[in-house]
Amino acid sequence: MDASALFKFSSGLYVVSADPGAGERAAACLVNTGLQVTSAPLQVSVTVNKENFTCGAIERAGHFSLAVVDESADMLFVGRFGFRTSADFDKYDGIASAVASTGDPYPAEHVCSYVACNVVQTVDVGTHLTFVGEVVDAGNLSGVPPMTYAYYHTTLKGKTPPKASSYVAGIS
Ligand SMILES: Cc1cc2nc3c(=O)[nH]c(=O)nc-3n(C[C@H](O)[C@H](O)[C@H](O)COP(=O)(O)O)c2cc1C
Repeated sequence: MDASALFKFSSGLYVVSADPGAGERAAACLVNTGLQVTSAPLQVSVTVNKENFTCGAIERAGHFSLAVVDESADMLFVGRFGFRTSADFDKYDGIASAVASTGDPYPAEHVCSYVACNVVQTVDVGTHLTFVGEVVDAGNLSGVPPMTYAYYHTTLKGKTPPKASSYVAGIS
């Protein structure tokens, strides 16, 4: 089997964030697993590794924001959300951000739109949890095209870390 076949699946890049409140710091991470699931009701899904700090934060919060990364994002932005952990770092410290009606933050730079959702279903898919959320807030933020995963690999020369759903050992 040649698992690199899955690299031809198209996807974008997203920042998923959750603020559980109660004095806890908001958590956020980069994912390529944002999807629109249905339009009536408007639902999206996001799949997050159980070992990512953000996974527990979404479970505790019961809601999340999902922002669409655009082509203005550089590797500093990707590194902040995709290669560091909210366990010991406030990913929103020092960047422009806003807060959705759910209370979850989202970046106000390098993203072209966002949605915010209440979690309506959580599916355990083994290494990851898939959260299905009903969209209660959404907006457009820039006219810059959304960054595709292919653009990330070919133009930014970015790598895929082990916790990404699309990681294949030995091929990044
Ligand atoms: C390009 C890229 C795609 C990623 N896709 C996912 C993904 O779909 N799901 C996931 O759980 N982590 C994904 N990650 C990994 C997380 O962003 C990374 O583990 C992050 O440091 C977790 O931060 P946290 O501990 O604050 O949650 C991806 C990272 C990169 C760079």
